[in-house]
Amino acid sequence: MLKTFIGPVEDEASKAYLRPETAQGIFVNYKNILDTQRVKLPFGIAQIGKAFRNEITPGNFIFRTREFEQMEMEYFVRKGEDEKAFDYWVEERMNWYLEDLGIKKENLRIRKHDQKELAHYAKGCVDVEYNFPGIGWSEIEGIASRTDFDLKQHEKFSGQDLAYFDDETKEKFIPFVIEPSAGVERVMLALLCDAYGEIKGGRTQTTEKTKETEILLKLDKRISPFQIAVLPLVKNKKEVKDKANEVYKSLKPHFVCQYDEVGTIGRRYRRQDETGTPFALTVDFETLKTNDVTVRDRDTMEQERIEIPGLIEYFKNKFNC
Ligand code: GLY
Repeated sequence: MLKTFIGPVEDEASKAYLRPETAQGIFVNYKNILDTQRVKLPFGIAQIGKAFRNEITPGNFIFRTREFEQMEMEYFVRKGEDEKAFDYWVEERMNWYLEDLGIKKENLRIRKHDQKELAHYAKGCVDVEYNFPGIGWSEIEGIASRTDFDLKQHEKFSGQDLAYFDDETKEKFIPFVIEPSAGVERVMLALLCDAYGEIKGGRTQTTEKTKETEILLKLDKRISPFQIAVLPLVKNKKEVKDKANEVYKSLKPHFVCQYDEVGTIGRRYRRQDETGTPFALTVDFETLKTNDVTVRDRDTMEQERIEIPGLIEYFKNKFNC
């Protein structure tokens, strides 16, 4: 625990302790959940939140900080079912990074802790590691098989009965625990590193002329901070701007959109490419006659004309929602 004092006076009454991991909160909540939710093994309790450590040497960018965001789950199982559950969660967590977040396979690996790295109570532990540029392989998540150690310790020091009662077998026992534990900032950094690319000379004529380096943030479209950018081709033509605003307002309830009219259209595409916005939609003079817009794909730069009334459906298909 990280000891601190709340308020201006450092006395006994103002002493407080900040948790070094979200896991403690979960073990404290375990009994409430057992008593109120009628859960049956196996079940998991997950939390996300701040954790605090009194690091002697903070630094090394986001890898050693005194305050960080952590997400953990305690997955409670019967003794004897822990090894299967452990393998299951290692596979599930890898799938989350690869399939759901779209991290490149070659940048992710599992590192198994050897016997001397394991805590005395732990049956097994692996780190999910990402190959950070300039830093190398570093942990973004740990998955540990922690036996019944934590609950037994909480039972010992709280004096509470933390045993699980199995209705069917009439047995009472302390469950075993599998704990996936991830650092949110590290995962965010891995996502950004994985998606970031620089293209010398640029991809388009505009940038080739100026020999600019073009930045492309190829975030998976399910996690981009913005989904669609709405761009009027020009900002000094009222009808084009009004139409672009109308399109923006119609898409906003359904997607995370950004409206941008500042700078040349080429510059604005670049800005969206750097932000990682998968689609940019341009309202031009043609739109006023044909009621369609140009939709540009961030990665292929392919453009297609889509009629305005079909836009919501078109993007719902693109985003699978
Ligand atoms: N609960 C494991 C950790 O915080 O490292």
